[in-house]
This record gives sequence, C-alpha cells and structure tokens, in this order.
Amino acid sequence: MAGIWLIGAYGVVSTTTMTGLAAIKAGAAPRVHAGIVTEDPECDFIRSKFPLEKIALGGHEVRFLDRNAFQASEKIWEENVHFKRSFLDAGKNELSKIKAKKGTAINCGPGVDALGDLETLESEGLTLSEIVGRIMKDYESFKNKNGEVCVINAASTEPHIQLTEEHQSLDTFEGLIDENKTEKVTASMLYAYASLKQKIPYGNFTPSHGATVPAIRELAVKQQIPYMGDDGKTGETLMKTTLAPMFKMRSLKILGWAGFNILGDDDGVTLSKDANKESKIESKDKAISSSIGYSPFSITEIKYFPPLVDHKVAWDYISYRGFLGTKMALQFTWHGIDSILAAPVAIDIARSLMFAKSRGEFGAIHELAFFFKHPIDDIIGNTFLQYELYMNWIKEGKKVPLEKMQAKIVK
Ligand SMILES: NC(=O)c1ccc[n+]([C@@H]2O[C@H](COP(=O)([O-])OP(=O)(O)OC[C@H]3O[C@@H](n4cnc5c(N)ncnc54)[C@H](O)[C@@H]3O)[C@@H](O)[C@H]2O)c1
Repeated sequence: MAGIWLIGAYGVVSTTTMTGLAAIKAGAAPRVHAGIVTEDPECDFIRSKFPLEKIALGGHEVRFLDRNAFQASEKIWEENVHFKRSFLDAGKNELSKIKAKKGTAINCGPGVDALGDLETLESEGLTLSEIVGRIMKDYESFKNKNGEVCVINAASTEPHIQLTEEHQSLDTFEGLIDENKTEKVTASMLYAYASLKQKIPYGNFTPSHGATVPAIRELAVKQQIPYMGDDGKTGETLMKTTLAPMFKMRSLKILGWAGFNILGDDDGVTLSKDANKESKIESKDKAISSSIGYSPFSITEIKYFPPLVDHKVAWDYISYRGFLGTKMALQFTWHGIDSILAAPVAIDIARSLMFAKSRGEFGAIHELAFFFKHPIDDIIGNTFLQYELYMNWIKEGKKVPLEKMQAKIVK
C-alpha cells in the first residue's frame, strides 16, 4: 500500500485529485493520456512500484471539517462541473470514508482569512509544539495504515515571511517551536517539518515556504528523506517554459513578456490579496529567466474574476527581435481548468518522491524540476531539459551535478 496526504484536502486541487484517483480505482475513469506522466510506459518503474489502485488518501483542512471528502468534492463539483458527474459517483464509496483532520493556518495571511470561518489547531489554544505534535500524530497513523506515504501541500498560497537567523539551522528553528514564537513560522513550515520528522517525503505544490527553509532542509538530510517544490507547473508557466526555449534555440531575443491571468474560485480569492499574491508572482516571474538564461522585461498580473470559477484564462504577449533587429510579437490565450491540470501533477510528484525514497535518495530531488514553476535551487526552467533530466533519473537513476542543473541568470 501507499498513500498521499493532501494539505488543503477540501480545495479544488485536492478534491479533484481524490475524486480522480477514486474513479480510476473504481475502473470508471481513464488513466492513460490523462495527464499522469507516471502512468506512461517510460515510468514503468514508478507505475509498478506504486500502482494507482494501492494509493490511499487523506489530508488536513481548516474549513468544512464536518464534511467527508465526498461531500467536499461534490460541493466543489457543483460550482465547477469540471468533469463528468459519474466519476464522482464512482468514487463515492471511497471518498465518503475519508475525513480531513484539523490543521493549522498560522501566518497564512489575509487571503486565507478571507476564505471564511477557519477551524484551526491554534484556535483550540495549542502551542506550536502541541500543533506539530498533533500533525505528526495524524501523519503517523496514516503511515502506519498505508505504508509508504507522501505529504503534498496543496493548501492556499501563504505570504512569505522574513526569514531570520533562527530559520537557518535546525537547532534554532526547533527553539522557535519550543518557545512558541508564532510570529516566526508559517503553517507550511510546520506541515513540512512534521512530515520530515515522521520520515515522510514532502512535495510543495504551492509557492509557500514549505521545506525551503534552511532549517527544514537540514532536517530532511538528517532524516534522509526526499522533498521537492515549489509550486506545481501546470498552465501559463508550462507554456512560458516551453515556448521561451524555442526563441532561444532560434537565436531570437525575447524583449518582453507580459502575462495577465484571471481566475475565479477560492484560489482566486486568496491570490486577490497582495500579500498572498506576491509569493505566486515571484514564482511565475522566475520561470522565463530560468528557461533562457536572461531576464527580459516582464509583467505578471493575476486578478480575481469570480465567473470563471476554476477555469483560468491567461493572455500572454511576447515581444521579440529577429533578423536585422526587426521586432515581432507572439500572443496566445490559455484556457485551462486549473485543478484538471494540477491533479495529475500532484499524483506524479507524490509517486516520484516515494520512488526517490525507495531508492534511498534524500534532500531536494532536483530531477523533479519538470513538475515545478520554481524548482528549489533555481534548477533550469526549460521544460525539454527538465523532462530529459527526469527521464534519465527514472530509467537509469542518473543524477546530474547540481551546478549543471542550475539556471544561469544573466541580468
Ligand atoms: N493549476 C493549479 O490549480 C495550481 C498550480 C500550481 C499551484 N497551485 C497551488 O495549489 C494550491 C491549491 O490550489 P486550489 O486551487 O486547490 O486552491 P483552493 O483555494 O481551492 O484550495 C485550498 C484549500 O486549502 C485550504 N487551506 C488553506 N490554508 C490551509 C492550511 N494552512 N492548512 C490546511 N488547509 C488549508 C483551504 O481551506 C482550501 O480548501 C494553491 O496554493 C495554488 O496556488 C495550483
């Protein structure tokens, strides 16, 4: 058995992941050409080690804790109608048995506060070490029941807080927890810390801090557990990091890239608050420079547009220069359904991290950069090179020295 534990269990990415997996297991939904890279024959090692049928589900939430995963998924489905209703019904048996556990929303910013009444561990009056203890217990019982499991952070994007000296080493970070310095930590740090303490791999599907804090990275190495992030690459950024290399290969200079995104649903509510939005823009912005090695003028804008619900529209305008210095432009419009694009990537990340652990690998698994907008340690953004790195890693266990994988950013 194996398992995926989703932080933000009743959000649209998580419920779509859970419904999709449950429907596939019930034999009702297709698994090939469904966006799951690890179902492709090239990934046979992963596919056979962690078959979709054997992946159990669970997670943490801070809202709607009276619901089970079926009720949460149904509510989201009614707003989005983003797949056939029969898939939800096919998964009902499994989903009805899953109930999210109460999580923490410490320092998740105004974007998460705006989601409505939150039910959190801190509102029970627990200290940081008690909160970590509760989260670890939830992870532990999931692991004991299901064997090899992975935590995926798919919670709302939180703002970045200023990292200080205490975040630089495990010792001092644990001091922050012991002394209950709530202003110095965020929810994603606590979930990541607890996961690695329990020797569970951790994938950060969001731009939140997660495991990127040096102290938590130190813990991963100490515990010999793999992790990777940040922020799932699913839509506009996938386009950017796929198209930008084309300009580079043809020796065309990108002069500027403007991207305007509109989206609805709760992710849109969260990202409509500046503090939460900043983390997302930072991770989208870096994608171009890490694909081509220089930073053209760029605009990245994200606006909340409720009628779209989980549909996302991005307009991109790329100004570039060619022969005789002549300027030209490319424009595209992306119409995606965020969670439909995201769910298979969340599954791929979880399976790949469990696979990395089974091979004894630990620390940041840079070969998974292919799945992230802003891969940890500024790994090259070019989708083609990332795919090659990933495939060589799966098939031959090939590791490339970190310096060779890093993007050379020329200002
Ligand atoms: N294509 C995509 O959809 C995509 C791509 C990349 C990254 N992401 C990121 O994935 C995350 C989830 O996206 P979504 O569209 O499902 O958002 P969502 O708003 O639908 O879901 C987020 C869920 O997290 C819960 N939550 C918030 N803070 C929490 C906390 N501290 N602990 C536990 N639960 C918490 C919320 O109650 C909500 O149910 C976001 O951070 C988003 O930016 C999404």
